[in-house]
Amino acid sequence: MDIEEMKEEVEEKLKKYKQEHLLNGYENLTDQKKIELLKQLESIDFELINSLYRNMDKEEKENKVKIEPIEYMDKYNLKDKFKYYEQIGEKAIRQGKLAAVTMAGGQGTRLGHKGPKGTFDIGLDSHKSLFELLCDSIKKEGDKYGVIIPWFIMTSEENHDETVKFFEEHKFFGYRKDINIFFFNQGKLPMIDTEGKILIGEDGLVKQAADGHGGVYSALQKNGMLEKMKQMGTEWIYIGGVDNCLAKIVDPVFMGIAIDKGVIGASKSVVKASPKEKVGVFCKKNGRPSIIEYTEISDEMAEATDENGELKYGESNILCHIFKISAIEEMAKKPLPYHVAFKKATYIDKDGNKIVPDSPNAYKFEAFLFDAFGELDDMAVVRVRREEEFAPVKNAEGTDSPETARELYIKLHNK
Ligand code: UTP
Repeated sequence: MDIEEMKEEVEEKLKKYKQEHLLNGYENLTDQKKIELLKQLESIDFELINSLYRNMDKEEKENKVKIEPIEYMDKYNLKDKFKYYEQIGEKAIRQGKLAAVTMAGGQGTRLGHKGPKGTFDIGLDSHKSLFELLCDSIKKEGDKYGVIIPWFIMTSEENHDETVKFFEEHKFFGYRKDINIFFFNQGKLPMIDTEGKILIGEDGLVKQAADGHGGVYSALQKNGMLEKMKQMGTEWIYIGGVDNCLAKIVDPVFMGIAIDKGVIGASKSVVKASPKEKVGVFCKKNGRPSIIEYTEISDEMAEATDENGELKYGESNILCHIFKISAIEEMAKKPLPYHVAFKKATYIDKDGNKIVPDSPNAYKFEAFLFDAFGELDDMAVVRVRREEEFAPVKNAEGTDSPETARELYIKLHNK
């Protein structure tokens, strides 16, 4: 098909979905850019975008959802079973059955660091970046069990090149590219304005943004990462964020529990600091594993305690999970709901002017990783110690900031 025919088809599609403005600047583009834009427009699911816009104000009706506490195990209250689980997990790790996935496609808006969040230096004497701290941990644990844990890093279109460049500059922290480290790109979705119109970015192409950490399942599958893992003999996949500098990626006890319980997914939790802490907590929704967000939980539920005086909904999600490959395949099949975020986005208006907003002007759609948990019949939730495994870098200052993460890191490593 030649470029004119392509354009005609795209025009028809745009007309159908009332997005004709997307070709306003077409004539000013280079031939190569013209083709790029047309290909982009061909591949966009306008039906989905329009329906996301239409349904934005409709609150999800969860009236029929039955919410109950979920069972959990405390890693440090396993008594003589601790060794038992540890041995099971250790055997699997030694057999090379574990691979690690770090989700590093986020924008890190709250931190405000220029560059991918994983490149951020939390201010240790060593000046190691978050990526290097995670890599140190993976290498050290791998050495302990005589294996090299393959490390898969999810990037987004916005930060892929910068991330890879950073790894190259740091010689992959001693890991080997294409043998031990693999990068893969997450999916993206167009951003729209308050009228539901898709935006054009400064490059003349559709303005797209990463589709949320829930995109990890399909990104692993579509980019051939699951196949690669299968060839390597991987059975279990760790999935975690890039910003927890204490993430214990290789944990034989955690893995041993999952294997012994016969589940295909397991998550770590830490005890909620207070009933009002702004974190999502594990629960069961209609009998299936899930997370209830702090915005969804009633005061009464948040404060409810059990016979031991512990919060009934007190297991906070720290974005630290392991799944069997089959679980990922299952979760990748199911389209996840998209959550809306209102963000600042520079764009080109219909008259060709560049607009740099000083307040949010556009909607972005994100899927959440845990919205897929309901696909699993069961999941093991394992409580770990916050001071040993959870030091996130989310905000520039205050709670969960470089300062708090650094203190926790130093405290643990000086122990
Ligand atoms: P957060 O939800 O904390 O987002 O991501 P963020 O991008 O780091 O920070 P804010 O909200 O913009 O301030 C938790 C983890 O999920 C990854 C992030 O990189 C982080 O490791 N993530 C998030 C992705 O990989 N892709 C996404 O689209 C969103």
